[in-house]
Amino acid sequence: MPTKPKSPYLPFGDQQTAPWYGKNILSVRQFTRADLEYIFSVAHEMRVMVERIGTFDLLKGKILANLFYEPSTRTFASFMAAMQRLGGAVIPISEVRYSSVAKGESLPDTVRTLACYADVIVIRHPEVGSAALAAQYAGKPVINAGDGVGEHPTQALLDVFTIREELGRLDNLTVTMLGDLKYGRTVHSLARLLTRFDNIKLHYVSPEVLRMPRDVIDEVAEKGLPQEEHLTLDEVLPETDVLYVTRVQRERFDNLEEYEKVKDAYVITPKTLEKAKEKMIIMHPLPRVNEISMEVDKDPRAAYFRQMEYGLYVRMALLAMVLGKA
Ligand code: NCD
Repeated sequence: MPTKPKSPYLPFGDQQTAPWYGKNILSVRQFTRADLEYIFSVAHEMRVMVERIGTFDLLKGKILANLFYEPSTRTFASFMAAMQRLGGAVIPISEVRYSSVAKGESLPDTVRTLACYADVIVIRHPEVGSAALAAQYAGKPVINAGDGVGEHPTQALLDVFTIREELGRLDNLTVTMLGDLKYGRTVHSLARLLTRFDNIKLHYVSPEVLRMPRDVIDEVAEKGLPQEEHLTLDEVLPETDVLYVTRVQRERFDNLEEYEKVKDAYVITPKTLEKAKEKMIIMHPLPRVNEISMEVDKDPRAAYFRQMEYGLYVRMALLAMVLGKA
C-alpha cells in the first residue's frame, strides 16, 4: 500500500480526525484558551507561508460561499482572499438584492441552496442569531461574520491575535474600549474573549446611551475580570495598553437625531495620545468615520491597518481548520 503523501506545506492531519473538522464558528464562547493558542499558531504559519510563497494549494478544490446581507469591505474581502490564498474558490454574494433573497426567499432556504454548492458558508446578517439559524440548515460549517448587534467572533480572534503579535503577550493587560459599546458587536465578542486570559482589566468609555450591554458585563463579571465604565477617556488613558476605538453604528439607530447627538462624542488626535503609554496600541475594527483623526495614522502605536492584515491569516487558519486541513 502506498503511504499517504505528506503535505509539502504544513504538518496537517487527516480530514476526519482534525479537531475542528466540520465545526461551526458562531460565538467566541466556544473557544478555550488552548483553542486560541492553536488558532494563533496556525495563523502564524499562514503568515509565514503567505510571506514566503503567497498562494498555496491547501484548500484546492474547496468552495466557500461568502453570503453578506450587510455592507462589508474587510471581512468580505479578507475571507475571499483567505480562500483564494489557500487555493480554493469563492461564490461571492454581497448584493442579496440580486439573489433570490429579493424574491422573498428565507434564510434557511438560501443557506440550504448554498450548501449544495459550497463546502463552507460565511454569513453576515442584520439579525442576532442568524448565523446559528443558518447553521441548523446548512449541514456544512457556518462561520459567523457578524450577526446584527450580536457577535463578530472572527473579528475578536483577529483582534486578540493582533494584540499578541504587537505587544507579545495576552496576559497582564489593561484594555480600554471606546465609542459605541451598545451596538458594536466587535466589542461584545472581544470583551468575552479576553476573559480567557489572566490579569486583564477592562475599561469601557462611552456616552451614557451607548454603554456596554448588561449581559456582556455580567458574563465578563462571572469570570472575575475587573471592569469599569467611564464617560471620558482622560482618566484611564495613561494606564491603557490597548485602546480599542469603535465607530458609532449609525445603521442601528431607530432615531437619527439620537445618532447626531453622539456621533462625534470622541475623536482621537495626536494631542489625545500625549498622555498615553509609549508602548500602547490603538486598534479599530474599521471602517472609521471621524473617531480617529488621520494624523494619528503615522503614529507607530496606530495598529489598525496592521490589524486588517492579521485578519487574513486568522481567517485562513479558520477555513483550513473547519475544512479539516489544520
Ligand atoms: C465591524 C463590523 O462589521 O461589525 N467591521 C468589521 O467587520 N471590520 C465594525 C463596524 O462596522 O463598525
